[in-house]
Amino acid sequence: MRKVWSLILAGVMVLSLAACGGSAGSSTTAAAAASTTAAAAASTTAAAAATTKAAAAATTAAAAAATTAASSTSGSGKKVGISMPTKSLERWNRDGSYLEEQFKGKGCEVELTYSDNKIDQQVKDIENLIADKVNLLVVAAIDGESLSNVLDTAKEANIPVISYDRLIMNTDAISYYVSFDNYTVGKLQGQFVEEKLGLKDAGDKKFNIEFTAGDPADNNATFFFNGAMDVLKPYIDKGTLVIQSGQNTFQQVATASWDTKNAMNRMQNILGSYYPNGTKLDVALCSNDSTALGVTQAIESDYWDKENMPIITGQDGDEANLANIIDGKQSMTVYKAVANEAVATLDLGIAILGGQKPNADLIKSAGWKFDCTYDTESYDNKKAKIPSYLLVPTVVTKDNIQKELVDTGYYKMDGKYPKATK
Ligand code: BGC
Repeated sequence: MRKVWSLILAGVMVLSLAACGGSAGSSTTAAAAASTTAAAAASTTAAAAATTKAAAAATTAAAAAATTAASSTSGSGKKVGISMPTKSLERWNRDGSYLEEQFKGKGCEVELTYSDNKIDQQVKDIENLIADKVNLLVVAAIDGESLSNVLDTAKEANIPVISYDRLIMNTDAISYYVSFDNYTVGKLQGQFVEEKLGLKDAGDKKFNIEFTAGDPADNNATFFFNGAMDVLKPYIDKGTLVIQSGQNTFQQVATASWDTKNAMNRMQNILGSYYPNGTKLDVALCSNDSTALGVTQAIESDYWDKENMPIITGQDGDEANLANIIDGKQSMTVYKAVANEAVATLDLGIAILGGQKPNADLIKSAGWKFDCTYDTESYDNKKAKIPSYLLVPTVVTKDNIQKELVDTGYYKMDGKYPKATK
């Protein structure tokens, strides 16, 4: 699969570099020529990869790059500053490397920073990127409320900012938001529980559930929680679902920094106080994989019935959680293909750098094969409604890991367990 990707990437690189390097006149020809190279590379690859989705996904990336290359002005000579929150939460490593690869593939210079989940560090990192005269900032905020001042500086320096994955609040310096449909992530988790427990036809049955949500500093966290809660609340109101701890508000169930240990400690306390021998915990609804991991650890150490694990939800497809899914300890994860999130960010970024004001049309003109909606209503950062490109998440269980994660090329099997290819 590595070979497959390198072939395709080679195609994309040739294409992108040609488009970034040429003058307006020559770039069309270069793009056309490169397009053929890319197409050739992609079709060789497609043949090699037979009918796997990897080929489709990769061809999509190639096609997306091709469309942009043909239609946009050059990205070459441009510097892109990427500010990621931390390496300690697994997915951001993938985001960083996909974004870096995409923008470099367009001939852009890239500065990529990780801020160790420290707000002050992220402010400093962004200040440095501004001082280094980047032409575009892509920022996944640690704390959505803490970047207003530094982004004012970016605005004064005319540096456009894309809010990546997490909405940055209280600033008019951001032009766009690229993310997944965060509310739907939570909704999918809630619907999974609804279906697994057969809640629609539960009659007089009762099930115990506990919620674990994300970091209050992350605007996404309430979207995830609300999405799940909106599906499950009617059953809580009816008494079909019972929260023994009584902790039913976002603030009560939130997890500072999305930290595994914090989630574990809280669940250990809950199990100790509300789930004595004989009281069954049927569901641990966790907003993401880092919290699900902590909750699973708490259940393994402190729950009386280790033979019958509760339904445990997650999000991201972190390797440890996929291993737990294979081993029957976690029930599902909501997967968000960050490779596609990076492609969307690239095409948006290149359009902005080319002086365009992208809107819904970008989805078609970029030729993305993955689903994406353009939403100008849902994400209000308290200064304005931020135009958003929202990709679509997928439910992954033991039954479709191979199809959704391995056949697509995002992971490869390493013995019994999937390992991310990035
Ligand atoms: C992301 C999730 C991630 C969480 C913790 C959220 O903003 O959308 O994918 O699990 O942060 O890193």
